Amino acid sequence: MNSTLEVIEKRRSTRVYDPTPLSEAEKDAILHAAMRAPTAGGMMLYTIIEVTQQATKDRLAVTCDHQPFITTAPYLLLFLADYQRWMDLYAAAGCEQRAAELGIPVRPPAEGDLLLALMDALIAAQTAVIAAESLGIGSCYIGDIVENCEIHQALFDLPRYTFPAALVCFGKPAKTPSNPQTPRFERKFIVHQDRYQRFSPADLNELHMPFGQQSFAHHDFPNGAKNVIQANYIRKFTAGFSVEMTRSVKEMLKNWNRE
Ligand SMILES: Cc1cc2nc3c(=O)[nH]c(=O)nc-3n(C[C@H](O)[C@H](O)[C@H](O)COP(=O)(O)O)c2cc1C
Repeated sequence: MNSTLEVIEKRRSTRVYDPTPLSEAEKDAILHAAMRAPTAGGMMLYTIIEVTQQATKDRLAVTCDHQPFITTAPYLLLFLADYQRWMDLYAAAGCEQRAAELGIPVRPPAEGDLLLALMDALIAAQTAVIAAESLGIGSCYIGDIVENCEIHQALFDLPRYTFPAALVCFGKPAKTPSNPQTPRFERKFIVHQDRYQRFSPADLNELHMPFGQQSFAHHDFPNGAKNVIQANYIRKFTAGFSVEMTRSVKEMLKNWNRE
């Protein structure tokens, strides 16, 4: 295994940090790596916001589904999908006037542009995560950044054609290893040959085995669940944070698409 593969193998989400701030050289290396990530059309359809104010971290710890460890992250980066910069560039360069003269229909950024920008932002984020890990700096994604869009838009002055893709906490682990390695599904359930494959109930039970013996076997779980998958459904899929995530994302999509 080469050193890059070792870094990927050893990485795990880090949520308990040594409070020592990252050095300027470490932050520079993380940002540099993020900006060297592949990017659609060479356009860098993302913006990275360094969250430096403790008050903002404290607020995010509440608005991102009450996760207090966010307040303790020595370095916090918000990755935004960003088409605003290109719309501003297009306007500054007189693109719409020229298109009109040429008879080319003009259009605002649409869903496809948003998806491409989200891909760009997430690829930059994950490149930053791996770069950090290679320096002994752990990280943890916060998916709940897509909740409470009204609060986050105001907190970061987000213009219309931006969209939060990921919030990532960085910091040296307070203890090593930071966490046990978490299980993954067996490869045969994840990697398909040539076509998508659906699974039988028996296969699906086997799929979830690494997460608990006899997944569909009846036991008592909190909230009335009778097996481990029902427990996941109630704790994650139908949970309050998930309902809020859907509401907030719908609002952001409405704002992106409004006439
Ligand atoms: C898109 C995304 C969102 C996540 N959101 C959170 C989060 O809000 N809070 C958290 O503690 N971990 C979050 N995580 C971390 C996952 O829980 C973690 O990656 C998973 O349990 C696997 O563990 P590992 O990263 O240690 O391998 C997120 C990870 C991803 C990729």
